This record gives sequence, structure tokens and C-alpha cells, in this order.
Amino acid sequence: MSAAIEDVFKALAADRTARADEKVADLFARDPLRFSAFSAAFEDMLLDFSKVSLTGETLGLLVELARAAGVEARRAAMFAGEHINLTEDRAVLHTALRDRSATPFVVDGQDVRADVASVLAGMATFAEGIRSGALKGWTGKPITDVVNIGIGGSDLGPVMATLALAPYHDGPRAHYVSNVDGAHLYDTVKDLDPASTLFIVASKTFTTQETMANAASARAWIVEALGEAAVANHFVAVSTALDKVDAFGIAPDRVFGFWDWVGGRYSVWSAIGLPVMIAVGPAHFGHFLDGGHAMDEHFRTAPLERNLPVLLGLIGIWHRDVCGYATRAVIPYDQHLARLPAYLQQLDMESNGKRVTCEGTPVARDTGPVVWGEPGTNGQHAFFQLIHQGTSPIPVEFLIAAKGHGEESEPGLKRQHAMLIANCLAQSEALMRGRTLEEAKAQLLAAGRDEASAATIAPHRVFPGSRPSVTIAYERLDPYTLGRIVALYEHRVFVEGAIWGINSFDQWGVELGKELASTLLPAVESGVAPDTVSTSAAGLLHHLVSRS
Ligand code: F6P
Repeated sequence: MSAAIEDVFKALAADRTARADEKVADLFARDPLRFSAFSAAFEDMLLDFSKVSLTGETLGLLVELARAAGVEARRAAMFAGEHINLTEDRAVLHTALRDRSATPFVVDGQDVRADVASVLAGMATFAEGIRSGALKGWTGKPITDVVNIGIGGSDLGPVMATLALAPYHDGPRAHYVSNVDGAHLYDTVKDLDPASTLFIVASKTFTTQETMANAASARAWIVEALGEAAVANHFVAVSTALDKVDAFGIAPDRVFGFWDWVGGRYSVWSAIGLPVMIAVGPAHFGHFLDGGHAMDEHFRTAPLERNLPVLLGLIGIWHRDVCGYATRAVIPYDQHLARLPAYLQQLDMESNGKRVTCEGTPVARDTGPVVWGEPGTNGQHAFFQLIHQGTSPIPVEFLIAAKGHGEESEPGLKRQHAMLIANCLAQSEALMRGRTLEEAKAQLLAAGRDEASAATIAPHRVFPGSRPSVTIAYERLDPYTLGRIVALYEHRVFVEGAIWGINSFDQWGVELGKELASTLLPAVESGVAPDTVSTSAAGLLHHLVSRS
């Protein structure tokens, strides 16, 4: 890490120490314009970070950090198609998937825009065929159910987006099978009719054990019900490994390709989004891409001080490396974003869960935090106790729409949306303000407690306050806004990774477990543990095998 970066980190640490006892509530009291100074907007999307313990000077240092770390140059390199994924020698061009300009953009000798347009056109034709009933199952029945078989990036994005866009879902029912646990496939297909079910086998590599196992079982289910000849009508594939798809028996005209410059966790914009397109239609899927592209343009061109992904990334660095917070919670006050936290877990933790820099040297400070969350208001009745009064502060990211779906026609829904907003605002306000011992005691006395019991109970009713949160507010969760939200988080991950100097685009950390699983499968099947495993693994294996 360069001396300039170290210097800024030292200045940030000094700033934190100097303001250790400062309350965020006092920052608000001192500056009536704090909200406008510490919030930034892109179109109707507002990022409020005024409840984070930053001053103008801290923010200046964080922006200086981004400059010292070369975030802008690295951003330019990504958009230009340079091989910034060094360990895999690949470009990182998920941004090209949503840039639908017709001007050729040649990377590594390939016009990526033309390739993207051609796959998107193929997807749209196919999706419309399924949606209209023109493309039928083997027996002539229209397709009523689409089952996507994939895992990780070939599952989480489409699952998240399908739920997020539920109000736009007018195509066949969408189902997702990911786990190698056969219960997932079994439970999914048990009430489906093979004659009206389409399987999408989604795997970038077409080697992933879970996906291949589920695909083989799904194939057997179709063959048993409809015969071998039906496979062609009931399977399509999404992959970069066209040769392997061919070997599986899916015809080339039923394969939707993508490219090695699309990382799995960045692939929902590619043909991996096919189940979403079938569910909501090509036009809505196009608006999702447009939203992603709009956020790309904002990220590429807005000044760092007003740039939403940059600000979110810098706040992440402040919390992780200066304040030392090990986790962050994402709490969408939006039931349709219920799977966003799970999606962000892969996006963030697979990207920035790294311990060495791009040069292979140990990284100088803590990298990616644990990302977790659940929708509000449910989380309030589960883990918010710890966020308010636990011993380790947890930064929270709230997401909230101004308008819910269907509230124009349903007054009841409008009122419930007002309750949702009130709860979201109340939580961030409570986290920031807290409640002092004196306030707690006064409240108890006012409620009729005697002095002694008020003094005993009051400490339990103290909230430390100054617990950080940001709020991302937008008009409505439509396809365009979903695209902006997902791209916002992608670029935030990028900014943090660039500051840490790590490669956010590989995932070697998943390999060791995969290798050992392949070694252990024959052992589980034979009941004989190899000498190479620990006595713990051998003991567990014998315990399980003897009871199987
Ligand atoms: O778990 C590792 C991983 O490679 C992810 O990065 C990826 O999204 C997932 O497995 C699925 O990979 P594939 O699309 O190749 O089946």
C-alpha cells in the first residue's frame, strides 16, 4: 500500500480518535444543513449518510483516499476492458451487458456490444415464444412453469430479481433450484407437470457439481415422464462452455451464451437473467438493463464527492477500517427486496473476502465485512435488539421506496406503506439519537415508577445512540430502479476493492472445499475414509455412513 494511502488512513484514524466522544446527534444540533451536506442524489434516488459520524473534514479525507488509491484510474481501466481480473487474466465487463449503444466496442478482438445485442435478441425471441405459448412442450402443452437450475451467481441474481419484480410478473411461474440436497429439486417439481415444465440449466462453467447433479436428475424426471425425445423441448442452457452443454445433450439453438469477462456474481444482466426475462418480459428486462447503465454513467462521470457508489464505498471503508466494525446489515423496507441481502452476500463477500493484494502480498488492513440482513419490519422483531443495544455497533443500510405497489387502487395498502416508511425512519432515528440514562429514568418516573425501581430499570433502557446507518430512498421499485440498485452495489464493491488493492473479481477461496468434496464423495459412497483426511472428518464420515 502506498505511503500516500497510509498517510490518509493515519489522518482518518486521528480524526476518529479526536472525535471519539462526539455524538452524531450533536453534529445535527450544530449544523441545521447537515442533511443536505451529507446526502447525495442520482435522479430520484437519494443516499442519506448524515447519520454516519462524518464531518466535512472526514469526508474530504475519504475522497482523498479514493484518489490516492487510484480509484478513478482503475474505474477507467474496467470500463475500457483492461484485464483488471489479473489472476484469471480477464476483462471485467458486466457494464457492457447493459450498454446497448450500437457503436462497436472491441475488446480482445471481439465486438462485445454486437455479441451482447445478438444474445439479448435471441433471449427475447425465446422468452416471447415461451410467454405467448408459441414454443410448447413435447406433447404440445404450453409452458406454465420454468425451473432454473443453477447456484451462486447463476441463481442468486435471478432469484432476487424475480421477487423484486413480482408486480411485473405476467409470464409462466418461475422456480429456482440450487442446492445439491435433492430435497430442493424434489420439493420444487413434485407438484409440476413435466409436459408443461421448462428447465434452464444455468452454469457459467457447466461443471459445477450441484448444478450438474440437479440437471441430471431433472433430465431423468422428464425422460421418465415423456421419453428421451422430449429433452429437446424441455431444456435450455445458459453457459460460456458451449462444448460441455453440447455433451449434456442440449441442442446449440437452445443455448444462450455469455463470456468469460462476466463474473458469475455480476451475471444477472446476461443470459443468466433469462428466467427473469421470461417472467416479466423483454421490455421490463430492458428497463432493468437501462437502470444498470444509468448507474454506470453516474459512477463513471459524477464527481467523487457526489458519486453514490463512491460515497457508499468510502463509508464502507470508514466503518470497516477506521471504526473496526466487522459486519454490516442491509435492511430493505421492501418485501420485494427480501432476497437482496442474500444476493449482496455473494456480490460483496465473494468479491472482497480477500487476504492478499493484486500483487500477492498480505493486504494491510481488514477487507470485506460480513454482509447480512432481512427485510424490515421483520428484522425489528428479531435482531434489532442487538443493533440498538449490543456491544458491537453494526452499520445498517436501509432501503425504502416512496411508493408501494398497488396503493393507488387500495387505500389499505397506501396506509401500510406509510407504516413501512414510518418504521424505517424511526429505526435510523432511534439508532442515531439513542436514549441517555437521565432520559430513561425520567421516562420511568413519569410513568409512575418509584425512584428506586426507576434507578434499577433505567440502565436497561439506555440506548448508546450514534449507531451508524445510511438510507437509500427511491420513488418506486420498478425494473429501472432495481437495475440502479444492483449496479450501485456492484460499483460500491469495486470502490472498496480498489482502495484495498485487491482483486474483487476472482474467487479462489471457494476452491479448496470443492476439491475436498470431490475427494470425499467416493469415501462417503464406499464408507472408507482416505488416510489424507483428519480423524475428525473420518470420525464424522463413519458416524454418518453407519447410520445411512
Ligand atoms: O461458488 C463459486 C462459484 O464459482 C461462483 O462464483 C459462481 O457464481 C458459482 O460458483 C456458480 O458457478 P457456475 O455458474 O459456473 O455454475
